[in-house]
Amino acid sequence: MRVSGRTSGNPGESSGTLGRTPGIPGGSPGSDVLVIGGGIIGLVTAWRAAQRGLTVTVADPDPGGGAARVAAGMLAAVTELHYGEEMLLGLNLASAARYPEFVAELEAASGRETGFRTCGTLAVALDSDDRAHLRELHALQERSGLESVWLSGRECRRLEPMLAPGVRGGLRVDGDHQVDPRRLAAALLAACERAGVVFRRASAVRLTVSGGRATGAVLGDGTEVGADQVVLAAGSLSGRLAGLPEEVVPPVRPVKGQVLRLTVPPAYAPFLSRTVRAVVRGGHVYLVPRENGELVVGATSEEMGWDTTVTAGGVYELLRDAHELVPGITELPLTETRAGLRPASPDNAPLLGPTALPGLLLATGHHRNGVLLTPVTGDAMAEALTTGELPEVARPFAPGRFASAGAAPVPVPVPQEQSA
Ligand code: GLY
Repeated sequence: MRVSGRTSGNPGESSGTLGRTPGIPGGSPGSDVLVIGGGIIGLVTAWRAAQRGLTVTVADPDPGGGAARVAAGMLAAVTELHYGEEMLLGLNLASAARYPEFVAELEAASGRETGFRTCGTLAVALDSDDRAHLRELHALQERSGLESVWLSGRECRRLEPMLAPGVRGGLRVDGDHQVDPRRLAAALLAACERAGVVFRRASAVRLTVSGGRATGAVLGDGTEVGADQVVLAAGSLSGRLAGLPEEVVPPVRPVKGQVLRLTVPPAYAPFLSRTVRAVVRGGHVYLVPRENGELVVGATSEEMGWDTTVTAGGVYELLRDAHELVPGITELPLTETRAGLRPASPDNAPLLGPTALPGLLLATGHHRNGVLLTPVTGDAMAEALTTGELPEVARPFAPGRFASAGAAPVPVPVPQEQSA
């Protein structure tokens, strides 16, 4: 078996003796793997790598945070299908299929629940334009071999009595489920801790490169962590790490999403029994009901750079559109408003696996699908870290498809120290 960056190695044995970087003088002891970013993508990578016997350090000032703290947690491979994203659909479906087993394993490993709920989704139309849009989506789903059922407005309301009387029709998608991203992150954090992952509660501020390969990172507290392999999983911040050679800078940008959380009092339950969503005035609105009474309403999609302000306009538009869909929503307590940043890539698909810089791998750019793609990302990254190769399903998502993220394994110059 070829182990990336090493001449030997047994993925089943603890590889503290195998690492090329035994530690930095004056710094931390080295690990086989340093994961930069402790959001759900970094955590699942760390957990899966540790399960394969690698020693793993995660650098993040607030592990378990990131975009998952805001996300609604829809596992919407079918209802979020878009034209031109057929390749991504394959990865999304593979990850959706993995979810039940993944959650069972994670809950057993962590001793925590994730809020995974096999409730399905109903996508509805409020006027004739929405109806035409939904008909198009249905045709695309059928061409793609996906399961969805067209319902009349009356049938939609029979399923979800809180829907507005004017609903014109909808699509019932029984396979698009949900998970609670905050509980998922907490479970991943606990599973990592139990698997021996070391957490450094500081930001990575600069990648270290020596002899043409990534060797670790300098953290915000001034210490240096050495590693045989480095996984950059810093979400929308992934392209901002200093020290990245230009050729491997991941082309990710932040796409702002504002999300609301309401609470369904027990007397109102069940308010909704499944995720309900619609396109209203060209914008997507979705309502995700949790079993614990939380109702998540999302989400705006805004190209606003690094801005995470919750705006009156954003909250107004979400409530206005959600109210058109489910008028009774205005009776519910509004308990939280938040904005997060989706890490978007030029083709809306993630960047996974080795880059042109030996020792540096990416796990970023998951855009709208980070929660959905968590299981398959963990598997793919663990495979890449132990064998140097991505599994078949993840190969189309190698960073080399973008010139700026390492199109070819060209010799990479050792960079001078850079600032972000
Ligand atoms: N996948 C839902 C969102 O990005 O808003």
